[in-house]
Amino acid sequence: MNILLFGKTGQVGWELQRALAPLGTVIAVDVGSTDFCGDFSNPEGVAETVLRCKPDVIVNAAAHTAVDKAESEVEFATLLNATSVEAIAKAAAQVGAWLVHYSTDYVFPGDGETPWKENDQTGPLNVYGETKLAGELAVQKHCAKHLIFRTSWVYAGKGNNFAKTMLKLAKERDTLSVINDQFGAPTGAELLADCTAHAIRTAMNKPDVAGLYHLVASGTTTWYDFADFVFNTAREAGIVLALKTLTPVSTSAYPTPAKRPHNSRMSTAHFQQQFDLVLPEWQHGVKRMLEELFTTTTF
Ligand SMILES: NC(=O)c1ccc[n+]([C@@H]2O[C@H](COP(=O)([O-])OP(=O)(O)OC[C@H]3O[C@@H](n4cnc5c(N)ncnc54)[C@H](OP(=O)(O)O)[C@@H]3O)[C@@H](O)[C@H]2O)c1
Repeated sequence: MNILLFGKTGQVGWELQRALAPLGTVIAVDVGSTDFCGDFSNPEGVAETVLRCKPDVIVNAAAHTAVDKAESEVEFATLLNATSVEAIAKAAAQVGAWLVHYSTDYVFPGDGETPWKENDQTGPLNVYGETKLAGELAVQKHCAKHLIFRTSWVYAGKGNNFAKTMLKLAKERDTLSVINDQFGAPTGAELLADCTAHAIRTAMNKPDVAGLYHLVASGTTTWYDFADFVFNTAREAGIVLALKTLTPVSTSAYPTPAKRPHNSRMSTAHFQQQFDLVLPEWQHGVKRMLEELFTTTTF
């Protein structure tokens, strides 16, 4: 199997390089690639990459993910998250390739407490969500052989993430305030990549799995409880924290350019059933990432 991976250096892209390797030959590109264009500000360029590579499967992990910045960069976010995705979807259909693409719970309005299902009415609260929704629609319209995975609260061991930021702050400060009225499931890039590889293998033998899925770790938490979990795990591992008081606060305490959804819960029943997988509780991946972190000296 020949696989073309866009966005190889992002959180998910990095883990995909590992997870896709056993499936076949992977051509992995990013914005700076020279052999093949991987720059999503160049829709013709990325489409040309698909036409030249003629892969069996394209996996797109590239995106404009700076949620607040997107509010003031509407055209650029649209170019990356929708226009180039549409160009790739059309080229994928032309060469008969599968297209695997990632989207977000931000396509939903974020109200209520019920986990969102795939067919629930969308209604993005911010520009990032609007552009990601446009990308989804383009994939669905132009490339029938697609897998779209909506995910949320993605973290990875590589680079910065919420847990690392919290740990750094908790070593320096004795009080911290963290939002406790947004609900979701922290989802590891490792888990997303492994599930993607499995889903691709399934799709090769069972093409009728094509479609849109919610893919997040199991369980629900808030940023406050996520932070509390990180601190408790750190203390259990013998890490000394300056933090004495962790205070829960509402979203309104941290105004941001882009509105955030309160309810990022997503039902993964469809994914688990179609791909015969069990998604682990969110703590599983977070604990693993922290244990790896605690064995290094860099945090
Ligand atoms: N992160 C989350 O919490 C989250 C939540 C829900 C859904 N998702 C979705 O999951 C997917 C993977 O996200 P992620 O967390 O891995 O994001 P990420 O770490 O921000 O990775 C996105 C990648 O896209 C690259 N990129 C930026 N501009 C580009 C351009 N002009 N051309 C080509 N590539 C460009 C980035 O490169 P640079 O780093 O060099 O800018 C980065 O490597 C995305 O579709 C995202 O929308 C993410």
